[in-house]
Amino acid sequence: MLQSLFPQCGQTQTLESTYLALNLHQQAVKGDVLIYANYITSLDGRIALFDDALGELAVPKSIANGRDWRLYQELAGQADVMLTSARYFRQLAEDKAQDLLPVGSGDKYADIKLWRERQGLKAQPDVMVLSNTLDIPLAALEKVSDRQVIVLTSSQDEAKVEALERAGVQVLQTGEVTGSFIRQTLIDLQYRSAYMIAGPQVHSTLMQAKAVDELFLTTHFTFLGGTKVSGLVDVDLPQAQHMKLLSAYLDTEEQQLFQRFRYVG
Ligand SMILES: NC(=O)c1ccc[n+]([C@@H]2O[C@H](COP(=O)([O-])OP(=O)(O)OC[C@H]3O[C@@H](n4cnc5c(N)ncnc54)[C@H](OP(=O)(O)O)[C@@H]3O)[C@@H](O)[C@H]2O)c1
Repeated sequence: MLQSLFPQCGQTQTLESTYLALNLHQQAVKGDVLIYANYITSLDGRIALFDDALGELAVPKSIANGRDWRLYQELAGQADVMLTSARYFRQLAEDKAQDLLPVGSGDKYADIKLWRERQGLKAQPDVMVLSNTLDIPLAALEKVSDRQVIVLTSSQDEAKVEALERAGVQVLQTGEVTGSFIRQTLIDLQYRSAYMIAGPQVHSTLMQAKAVDELFLTTHFTFLGGTKVSGLVDVDLPQAQHMKLLSAYLDTEEQQLFQRFRYVG
C-alpha cells in the first residue's frame, strides 16, 4: 500500500492506478502539450552508476524495482509519444537497455493496455529520439517498428538521414535541438502528452528552455555512493530551477517516495 503524505496526509491506497488516474493525456490546453519526465534516484541523487559489466552508465539494480516500474508503465500508458535519446537506442541494439516498453505487455500491465484502448489512444505511444550524431542502429529501430518514430537532429549528414528515412523514420533537422524546438515540434505534430524517459542531457536541454512541465521522481531510500555516476542534470543552468510539490506518497513496501513536481519560475 501507499501512504499519502501530500496534499492529503495519512490516507492509504493501492499502488495500482495511482498515476493512471491523473489523465495526463488530457491536461494540456488546446494547442499545447504536457511534457513530463520520470526518474528513479537514490538518496544521494544518483540515477545511474557506471556498470563494469556493461562498460557504461546504467540504472543501478539496487534501486530499480517492480513497484516503481508499475508507475513507469502507468506514466507511459498516458503518453502520446515517448521522448528518448539516441544513446538509449544504441544501448537497446546491444541489449544493454530495458526494452522501449511496449506498454501493457504481460498480465500485470494488461489493465494499462486496456485503459489506453478505452481512452482512444494508439496501442503504443510514438517515439521521438534526440541525436546530434544520428548514430542510431537500424536494428534497434526494428524493436519499435509498430510505432511512428521521429528523430530530431542537428546533423546535416544526408546519407544517415536517408538511411533512417528508408527505415520509415521521420527525420527533422535543425541548427540546434533546443528545448523550445522539441516542444514546438511536439505541438506541431499535435501530440498532447509527451513522456521524457531519457537521461540528464535531454532533461537539461528541456530545462534550459523551460520546456518541461512536470517531474515524477521516485526517491529510493538508499545511498549508492560512487564516483562514475550520473544525476538528473549535468550542465550549468542559467538559474536555479524551483519546483512545486504536487503530490507525495510513501511506499512502505519498498522504502521509497513517489513525488510529483511542477517546474516553476
Ligand atoms: N534512473 C532513471 O530513472 C534513469 C532515467 C533515464 C536514464 N537513466 C540513465 O541515464 C544514463 C544516460 O541516459 P541517456 O543516454 O538516455 O540520456 P541523455 O544523457 O539524456 O542523452 C544522451 C544522448 O542523447 C542525445 N542528445 C541529448 N541531448 C541532445 C540534444 N539537445 N540534441 C541532440 N541530441 C541530444 C545525444 O545523442 P548522440 O550521441 O546521438 O548525439 C546524447 O548522446 C543511462 O545510463 C540511463 O540508463 C536513468
